[in-house]
Formats: sequence, C-alpha cells, structure tokens
Amino acid sequence: MKVIVVKDYNEMSEKGAQIMKDVIKNNPECVLGLATGDTPIGMYNLLAEGYEKGELDFSKVRSVNLDEYYPLSPDNDQSYRYFMNKNLFDRINIDKANTNVPDGMAKDVEKSCAEYEAKIDAMGGIDIQVLGIGRNGHIGFNEPDSELVPTTHLTALTDSTIEANSRFFASENDVPKHAITMGIESVFKARKIIVVASGASKAEAIRATVCGNLSTNCPASLLRLHPDVTIICDEAAYSLCK
Ligand code: GLP
Repeated sequence: MKVIVVKDYNEMSEKGAQIMKDVIKNNPECVLGLATGDTPIGMYNLLAEGYEKGELDFSKVRSVNLDEYYPLSPDNDQSYRYFMNKNLFDRINIDKANTNVPDGMAKDVEKSCAEYEAKIDAMGGIDIQVLGIGRNGHIGFNEPDSELVPTTHLTALTDSTIEANSRFFASENDVPKHAITMGIESVFKARKIIVVASGASKAEAIRATVCGNLSTNCPASLLRLHPDVTIICDEAAYSLCK
C-alpha cells in the first residue's frame, strides 16, 4: 500500500484527479469505479474541468458505483445516482447508459445484486476504483463486523454511519437504514485502487487502515492485501499515523 500525504483537501483532489486522468488518457474505454461522499467531489470537479478544456474524453468510458441507499428512488436528491449525475455525469460526455449504480428500488434485491456483480465481471473488471473511507473504516457500505459479505449485497447501516450521513438529510430519521454495496471482493476486482481522505474526522480510520492490524472491524485495512492501492490523505487525516 502506497501512502501519499498532502497538505490539504485541494492537493488531495489534484493528486487523485491526476491519477484518474492518466488512467482515462491511457485507456479511453476504461471502467471507472466511483464513490460518493464529500471527499471525491473536488476530484470530480477537476475531471469535469479536464473535459471542458478538451483534455479528457469520456465518450467510451464506462463506470460502476460502489453503493446506493435502499430503499431510495434514483430521483431522490439524496440518492447516489442523483449525486453522480449532478457532480460528474451531467458535466462530462459520458453516455449515461454506460454508467451503473446499484438499484435502490430493486424488488428482488438478491437477483439485482447478483446481476450487478455479473455486470462488473462482464465489463472485464474495474481499471481504477475510487474509494472514500468512513469514520469507522468502512468502504462503500462495508461496515465493520466480525464477517464481511464478499460481493454486492444488501447491508444494514451502523448507527455511526447513519449519524455521519444525516448531515445530508432533513433529519437522522430520514436516512435509509439499509444500502446495497459492492463487497470487498468486488472492490478487489479493480486493477488499481485509490483511497482519498481529508480531515481529522478520518484520522483514526486512516491510522487503523495504514498501521493497524488487518481486521474486518476496519474493512479498509484489508486493502493492504491488494497489490495496487494508493492512499492519498491530507496531513489532518494522517495525523494519528505518526
Ligand atoms: C458514505 C459512502 C462511502 C464514503 C463515506 C465517506 O458512507 N457510502 O462510500 O466513502 O460515506 O464519505 P465522506 O467522503 O462524505 O466523508
């Protein structure tokens, strides 16, 4: 696992965007694994700028997103589909038909999860997976637990995640209690992974990920087993590693 420590959020976004741009330029038909949350927004802004400047072409790029709340309609402004359209897809020339987000309205969830996993395989895996990290070390919505479901699945959110994510909703009660998420095995199908983290609220999660023991109680720590992972974090997020 490679760790790059930068000064602040802006530098983190620049570094992350640069790695993504290189992947897109080297392979215009690449598959991007995308994440939501506040952290990747700066990177997505830089990708959109790259497109506006004529530096990047997304016409043949495909994407898969990590997770989606369940149940939640894609039209809901708190859905991750809505987030992706607003923060990236509507600002670049990606074909929406080539973008994939788990179905927050699936009737048969098990079938929908199996189809999502099969789709990732059919696309030939993921060229670069972007990950944020939860305060408790979750990735996607793989919450700390004694066991982790390897592939795409329905999961219950922990109280700490519901509380952390309530800032986006009218109240904590409005946060869905479940989500569909890619599993750790799905994430490991990516040939390259970048994790972005900023701010002191992520310091304990970064400490546990970078220098704690490997544990399903910090799902992100398992990333140390993947051959190509780069963590890009600012000084505040890295502060407990020293
Ligand atoms: C959510 C998402 C994760 C994300 C995490 C951190 O729970 N499911 O994919 O990494 O929040 O979000 P933020 O970047 O807003 O701190």
